Amino acid sequence: MDRYAVMGNPIKHSKSPLIHKAFADQTDQHMTYTSMLVAEPEFEDSVRRFFADGGKGLNITVPFKLRAFELADELTERAQRAKAVNTLWQSADGRIVGDNTDGVGMVRDIMHNHDGRIAGKKILMVGAGGAVRGVLAPVLAENPVQLVLANRTFDKAHQLAEEFMDLGRIEALHMNELKGPFDWIINGTAASLQGDVPELPESVIGAHTRVYDMMYSKELTPFNAWALDYGAEKAFDGLGMLVEQAAESFRKWRGLMPSTPTVISDLRAAM
Ligand code: ATR
Repeated sequence: MDRYAVMGNPIKHSKSPLIHKAFADQTDQHMTYTSMLVAEPEFEDSVRRFFADGGKGLNITVPFKLRAFELADELTERAQRAKAVNTLWQSADGRIVGDNTDGVGMVRDIMHNHDGRIAGKKILMVGAGGAVRGVLAPVLAENPVQLVLANRTFDKAHQLAEEFMDLGRIEALHMNELKGPFDWIINGTAASLQGDVPELPESVIGAHTRVYDMMYSKELTPFNAWALDYGAEKAFDGLGMLVEQAAESFRKWRGLMPSTPTVISDLRAAM
């Protein structure tokens, strides 16, 4: 049996084992996928031991994505841009390859599961931390007409915009400079974790604005509740992104793209 795992700390609540089991069953792959709680000082040793013992692939989650990026011998271009790695495997000559499937996961969720378009649209991305950095390259690859970054700490958004300028039309704006309405507003801040909503002007929302919160929860996230209150057309959370990033990792490892809709709806029903 080929062995896969997700490493993180904490890891108890990870849905990845469930998701990959569903993918494996659906596509008849003989593989196991477990979760591994890794103590902070032991991350690099744990990864190397996993592959030395014949493990085939790893997902990496909080708080190790940056260390996985640093550990990898080789990086995909999107992982290089993200400066974070959530997927590892070994190349034929034994080098550890790092990839980041988060951004593609979000873009596919928007486009395939929510019938959304990014091409030609005005996108507002809120936040400037790791979550936002991770998705910028795949979002820009879809050619939005405008991608605006807004963040509580403006300088971080500005720096990020400079870094991705070569990939497309991206700019950072202060909150009071935002001119809506936007077609999509994507929340990549950690504000929802504290039950908070970033302080955006209401004018960013119009009757056709759709919002996407990278966080997910059983209840409406605070950000999505705020947006719907102010008249957004639709609001989606990040559960689909979670499943789609897993699907992309699975595809990299197994060479097969699993089907995601029933996996997403089963997870939703079990929440
Ligand atoms: P992650 O890796 O999850 O993106 P991070 O790098 O700590 O985490 O980034 C968190 C993001 O959420 C930042 O954009 C942060 O804004 P600052 O750069 O101003 O810190 C944003 N954030 C966190 N809590 C927030 C809150 N209560 N309101 C608005 N933005 C918040």
